[in-house]
Amino acid sequence: PGTVKLAVIPGDGIGQEVTAEALKVLAVAAPAGVTFEQTRYDLGAERYLATGEVLPDSVLAEIREHDAILLGAVGGKPNDPNLPPGILERGLLLRLRFELDHYVNLRPSRIYPGTASPLSAETLGSEPVDFVVVREGTEGPYTGNGGALRVGTPHEVATEVSVNTAFGVERVVRDAFARAQRRPRKKLTLVHKTNVLVHAGSVWWRITQEVAREFPEVTVDYMHVDATMIHLTTNPSRFDVIVTDNLFGDIVTDLAAAITGGIGLAASGNVNPDRTTPSMFEPVHGSAPDIAGQQIADPTAAILSAALLLDHLGHTEAAGVIERAVIDDLAERTPGATRSTPEVGDAIAKRVGG
Ligand code: NAD
Ligand code: IPM
Ligand code: MN
Repeated sequence: PGTVKLAVIPGDGIGQEVTAEALKVLAVAAPAGVTFEQTRYDLGAERYLATGEVLPDSVLAEIREHDAILLGAVGGKPNDPNLPPGILERGLLLRLRFELDHYVNLRPSRIYPGTASPLSAETLGSEPVDFVVVREGTEGPYTGNGGALRVGTPHEVATEVSVNTAFGVERVVRDAFARAQRRPRKKLTLVHKTNVLVHAGSVWWRITQEVAREFPEVTVDYMHVDATMIHLTTNPSRFDVIVTDNLFGDIVTDLAAAITGGIGLAASGNVNPDRTTPSMFEPVHGSAPDIAGQQIADPTAAILSAALLLDHLGHTEAAGVIERAVIDDLAERTPGATRSTPEVGDAIAKRVGG
């Protein structure tokens, strides 16, 4: 009970459209006695193009004072000469993840009953597809550690150095084991490329073996990231918890989204398990400039992200009600029929409310 201080960053493109629907559902899902006190932040491409500001320090300091963050998506129109590549992705999204120490990027994947997967029924078999990717969120090749020499010449050399600290790997691996321990199948798969990336790989491998001793009930498996693409598309039910680095996790989770009903359904949480900062919840997808402004984006991923937010704040029951409403909505979707973004939001909100 009480007030939840929620920072809302709708961002760009369909980010704004899907966030409106997530808020609609959150409003009806709020448990009795809980009110969401929202602060809206107009961060993103428009603000940058108008003012040159991406994420002012004062705004970051304000955002820090909230209980949680709901984000839509960031990213402007492709190849806009006024919008240097990465400026929003790095300066806004990654800066929030890094500054708020969101070291667990949680990306659940389930094939809900009746949801269309591009994989055939034969491939899927009878075992349910229900796994979660625990993607490291603060290190890997994402830290900006790198540079370029002799830029623009035929002799240009560019590096993006992957940073893997024992501290950073251990905390995310331990979190993944703890999640595996709480799940019925208690299985963890480390995904990496230890056969080539031997320096980083040995840290991930060694620490996984070490932490495994604290979780004797969890079965540990290892898979190279390339082979993971094979198994995800031929036998996805074999996975339970996948733990992996920041870049592999980015790639694995777009494929995971595609096989479990599409990117419009994939939710995520950028979590600080130590709860020293607000965690941030957002769909896995981006601002989708190709369909922005048409109100045809699927808001389900944003709505499920709001459910993850409620769950993180301890409102497990309310989170379950949203998930149930989504499952029921998915079950009644007619293939080929199109509903607008607000129509989907309204339908789910109605189920949550009624
Ligand atoms: P994208 O996820 O925005 O779009 C990929 C494809 O999926 C597009 O065809 C799009 O129309 C479709 N799609 C995405 N979400 C959908 C939805 N909810 N309903 C229906 N279709 C949907 O990825 P992109 O095109 O590679 O990136 C566009 C911009 O978004 C880039 O600037 C990128 O950096 C940024 N981005 C931001 C985030 C984020 O804010 N978390 C995530 C990914 C990409
Ligand atoms: C995601 C996105 C981001 C990432 C980009 C936009 C920085 O692709 O959330 O998956 O790579 O993490
Ligand atoms: Mn991504």
